Amino acid sequence: MRTLFVVIITLSLFGILFQLAADDSQKIELKFTHKFHVEEQEIECIECHTSASESTTGADNLFPSMELCADCHEVEEEDNCNLCHQDLDDPREVPRIDTYNTKFSHQFHLSKGLECESCHAVVAMKTMAEPYILPTMVECINCHESKFASLECATCHLPTDQLLPASHTPDFIHNH
Ligand code: HEC
Ligand code: HEC
Ligand code: HEC
Ligand code: HEC
Ligand code: HEC
Ligand code: HEC
Repeated sequence: MRTLFVVIITLSLFGILFQLAADDSQKIELKFTHKFHVEEQEIECIECHTSASESTTGADNLFPSMELCADCHEVEEEDNCNLCHQDLDDPREVPRIDTYNTKFSHQFHLSKGLECESCHAVVAMKTMAEPYILPTMVECINCHESKFASLECATCHLPTDQLLPASHTPDFIHNH
């Protein structure tokens, strides 16, 4: 009985380790720390995300290019490549967000005097490049409620958006 117990524990530990290893492989290849640049170097968000104030749709690309880093870093120097790249044989672009809610406009929200931090509070604390932390619908709704902005579905969603979960097929009511 005890041996079986030990075997089960060992197997589940392997399972956990295996999962950790799998997650690790999904990390973004770029080396970058927001915390260091924002806090220590006191660089404004907009200095790197220059297109944020003009962006009118969630599909826009707001990431800085390698040329922008070159304002302060030597990016042509062979010896310096691994300052920012983990894998020089395969330097990959940071995965872009292009499927997010198209009705979201940075330009509009910034024109209302909102700060980057009101929607991206945790980003400045990040010490490495990792998958996105983007506002969820609940966060949009919470602020809209407090600022008396619209809560109508159509304010943020297109008429063609499927507003029911995928499991809610036309026969959903029948089957329930
Ligand atoms: C009212 C909320 C809100 C404010 C204020 C806001 N953002 Fe965003 N941000 C979002 C949402 C929603 C997304 C996801 C949709 C998109 O990419 O436009 C996003 C995405 C981003 C991305 C992801 C990159 C990409 O290409 O999609 C960056 C970078 C970004 N914001 C930077 C900024 C900066 C810099 C500021 C301040 C100048 C700012 N944001 C202000 C809500 C906000
Ligand atoms: C306005 C100036 C400025 C810009 C723009 C800038 N950096 Fe930096 N960065 C610095 C300074 C200063 C340091 C510290 C000195 C150094 O290592 O060169 C630094 C350090 C770093 C480090 C090392 C951090 C560590 O923990 O040792 C990395 C990696 C880095 N930057 C990546 C980038 C990337 C990627 C970009 C472009 C998206 C970028 N930086 C844009 C100023 C800048
Ligand atoms: C200061 C940081 C930094 C340094 C140093 C740097 N890079 Fe980059 N590199 C970046 C960033 C940021 C991107 C991502 C740009 C993007 O996603 O659009 C990038 C992207 C790339 C890409 C893919 C972009 C594309 O257009 O396909 C290649 C290839 C690349 N770098 C090669 C190099 C080489 C070679 C060196 C050294 C000679 C180097 N990099 C030095 C920050 C840096
Ligand atoms: C020195 C350049 C630089 C500065 C300053 C900077 N960023 Fe970024 N930002 C980047 C790079 C490079 C990426 C892509 C790699 C990553 O996700 O860390 C990025 C990614 C993002 C993303 C999308 C990824 C995510 O984690 O959600 C958001 C949102 C964002 N930045 C917001 C901000 C905000 C808000 C500030 C100011 C507090 C800021 N950034 C300051 C360079 C910068
Ligand atoms: C921190 C507060 C805040 C957050 C978070 C926020 N909004 Fe807003 N939003 C506002 C304000 C303020 C208005 C303008 C209200 C007015 O003046 O009528 C607005 C208006 C809008 C409008 C109407 C724009 C127009 O042209 O009339 C849309 C669409 C919208 N928001 C989408 C979103 C989406 C999508 C999110 C989440 C990703 C979001 N908002 C998150 C504060 C916020
Ligand atoms: C203030 C903006 C806003 C309003 C108002 C709003 N939504 Fe959303 N909704 C969003 C955003 C942002 C997302 C996430 C989009 C993304 O991640 O691509 C979302 C996602 C969804 C999703 C997909 C859920 C998921 O987990 O992917 C459904 C379903 C949805 N909304 C239904 C509704 C319905 C029904 C209403 C009206 C009662 C509504 N929404 C009103 C902004 C809004």
